[in-house]
Amino acid sequence: MYIRECYRFFAMYFQLLLLASCSSAATLPKAPFLRPCAQDNPHFNDCALESAKYGLPIVAKGDRSLGIPPLNPLHIPEVKVDDRSFTLTLHDALVYGLENAIPEKIEFNFEKRNINMEFTLPVFKAISKYAIDGKFLLLPIKGDGDFNGTSINGKLRVNQGYNFKKINGKDHMEVVDMKVTFMPQRFYLTLTNLFNGDKTLGDHMNAFLNENWKVVYEELRPTLESTFETILTSVTTSFFNAIPYEEILPKTL
Ligand SMILES: *[C@@H]1O[C@H](CO)[C@@H](O)[C@H](O)[C@H]1NC(C)=O
Repeated sequence: MYIRECYRFFAMYFQLLLLASCSSAATLPKAPFLRPCAQDNPHFNDCALESAKYGLPIVAKGDRSLGIPPLNPLHIPEVKVDDRSFTLTLHDALVYGLENAIPEKIEFNFEKRNINMEFTLPVFKAISKYAIDGKFLLLPIKGDGDFNGTSINGKLRVNQGYNFKKINGKDHMEVVDMKVTFMPQRFYLTLTNLFNGDKTLGDHMNAFLNENWKVVYEELRPTLESTFETILTSVTTSFFNAIPYEEILPKTL
């Protein structure tokens, strides 16, 4: 009798310990930026928006254990803009401003496995070395030097689908389609050392580029947007691979 009671006590004790360790494992800050929202939350999209506002500044610092690079600034070794009439190459670009993205809207569609997001990027800029050659907006252009592309109040729209795959027996989300559009309220471009350093020609060209910033931006836009898609796919994939689906989007809490 005594032994049986005693055993029950120990069994209970161990169960409690196990429970305690399980719950601490579940809430372990594996991803300190993650504040999950339950799928059955009637205000799920609002909750997700708040989570994004909370988590983004933390994610932006980067997380080596999750394979997420620091976003302030983000280093991109090379970007090539290939148009029929000109080539523009950026080397060692430093991209600033992703860390200040303001989440404006998040819409999940669990049936369609789709996420729709909108952010404002108050100041978003790329500082880089560049080389350009060819015809830009019908004008001959040639040069290599410093590139500064700065956009003000950019609207970043992200639409991504997801699927599931197994990692160590657990469901993980997988990015299947990432579509990004980015439109700034104003775009500034400065290219130093155009035309072998001819200052008059260079100043004229820079003035022309900025007067016609909308057309200039449309020329650069497809490359910029596909670069966004590559970056966001890579960051999201690291995040999805590191954290199981049930922890990112628990059915209930
Ligand atoms: C880049 O251009 C923007 C807009 O013209 C300007 O405010 C900023 O100081 C420039 N930054 C650098 C590093 O040249």
